[in-house]
Amino acid sequence: MAEVFTLDGEDLPFEPGDTLLQAARRAGRYIPHLCWHPDFAAHGSCRICVVKAGGRMGAACSVRAAPGLQVESDTAELNAQRKTLLQMLFIEGNHFCPSCEKSGNCLLQATAYQMGMEGPHFEEFYPARPVDASHDDILLDLNRCILCELCVRASREVDGKNVFAIAGHGIHAHLVVNSESGKLADTDMALADRAASICPVGVILPKRQGFVIAIGQRRYDEGTAADADRQEAS
Ligand code: SF4
Ligand code: FES
Repeated sequence: MAEVFTLDGEDLPFEPGDTLLQAARRAGRYIPHLCWHPDFAAHGSCRICVVKAGGRMGAACSVRAAPGLQVESDTAELNAQRKTLLQMLFIEGNHFCPSCEKSGNCLLQATAYQMGMEGPHFEEFYPARPVDASHDDILLDLNRCILCELCVRASREVDGKNVFAIAGHGIHAHLVVNSESGKLADTDMALADRAASICPVGVILPKRQGFVIAIGQRRYDEGTAADADRQEAS
């Protein structure tokens, strides 16, 4: 018989090596997340998935399930903390959802709706971030980057190209393109690369495909982030 841990009072089975997030998803339970992706190792940077496990705070994408472990996730305290983190992500970049091609397909936007975020709350930074339209097929709008590093990991681990990197620290951390000019056109990135389709927000976008999927027919138009996550995991 499979061993179980407890998530918000419900016993859930897990397999050896499962993280809390993996086991929860397999059982059809949603734990909010941004920097985690099923095809990549946990990154543990966004902290949206933070839960209380055995009384201690930990990232559900990184903490392993253990027999009898008592985990709290869907609580007013943790959801308020997630909402604050989301609000900080929104003000640290420039996110103008109504004019973004990714609107309705954006995990940040959908998670903010899921957590009941109604406004930025904090004062906007309005940082100066570049748009790089140099590549023939791919647009980069760094205003929307949340530094999840999925493109960095996809380019390095799947495409074998190392097109992206993170430079700077703390509030100065930012995504850079690994070419002498710093322009995407001067890399060997191609539209078919995994890194070209991995971005959960609207930074890395294929050119000439804007609004091919109509508003109202996008991933999170049909249901919430939790609905989409459960569907993907099933
Ligand atoms: Fe993540 Fe997209 Fe920024 Fe890459 S460009 S770090 S995938 S948000
Ligand atoms: Fe766990 Fe980002 S999803 S820290």
